[in-house]
Amino acid sequence: MNHSSNELATQSALGNLALRIDGAARAASLRDTVAAAVPAFVAAAERPPGLAVVLVGEDPASEVYVRSKGKATRESGMLSVEHRLAGDASRQDVLTLVRRLNADPAIDGILVQLPLPAHIDEAAIIAAIDPDKDVDGFHVVNVGRLALGQDGFVPCTPLGCLILLQQALGDLAGRDAVVVGRSNIVGKPMAQLLLQQGCTVTVAHSRTRALAEMTRRADILVVAVGRPEMIRGDWIKPGAAVIDVGINRVPAADGRTRLVGDVAFEEAREVAGFLTPVPGGVGPMTIACLLRNTLVAACRRASLPPPPGLAPGSGKHQR
Ligand code: GUN
Repeated sequence: MNHSSNELATQSALGNLALRIDGAARAASLRDTVAAAVPAFVAAAERPPGLAVVLVGEDPASEVYVRSKGKATRESGMLSVEHRLAGDASRQDVLTLVRRLNADPAIDGILVQLPLPAHIDEAAIIAAIDPDKDVDGFHVVNVGRLALGQDGFVPCTPLGCLILLQQALGDLAGRDAVVVGRSNIVGKPMAQLLLQQGCTVTVAHSRTRALAEMTRRADILVVAVGRPEMIRGDWIKPGAAVIDVGINRVPAADGRTRLVGDVAFEEAREVAGFLTPVPGGVGPMTIACLLRNTLVAACRRASLPPPPGLAPGSGKHQR
């Protein structure tokens, strides 16, 4: 699939609905690629790639994420190790664990689930992770590598968004991209990735004035603010590719709750050219990219070449 902006604009003008970007299908394909490459790693290194996930406290959402990360890691043939610390664990307890994992030869990737309890300084914990095991891409060394265009680890959610955009649009060079949200986990690395692809990038956030005017100019709109259905249909340029990173639980008519994104889906699909659903869009890509980063970390640590289709930058050619 590779549609020009004109084609997309025409499609919307004719009243067609946006093409739904199937993140679940793309994630399944990436997970298959990773799983297919694991046996060759095991044969060469005589051990599986290993991912350690650290969870401090009992945040229910984090529990769900950590469980699904562990399951996906095992399903791809890799070693999954979970470390759970009580909510009153000290900063020193967490640092001691991270240092032990840094030194453990069976562990290639370390993920400390965020947010940490308020009494623990997240920056200090992330700084303690070996940058070559930092599969989240949060360490200052990997943030710097991304900014300079060097090989490192790219945070999983923006990497997943980029893969979906490349699949929908092909080459991104020259397009106007607007990222709404400036978090360290999504907004900032997303902006860096789009810049690297040759987009003209604007980063908007809670203090931005005339936000709708800005989003209406975007060929590519990535939204990661955590505000349910904030982006309305008339904030979107006809034919734009819209990536919705938000996952918000809101009350439903029947007294239960439902998940919605940061984009008003029903309105947006009348205007956009491509649109990710919530759930089933960006979410599954995040875990698939974590597996990808873990396998790449394992190959680097074992001085093996990256597996086919998973090398840094190979996403440029994935449609
Ligand atoms: N909390 C929410 N998203 C993430 C993520 O991508 N990595 C980690 N470590 N924690 C998170």
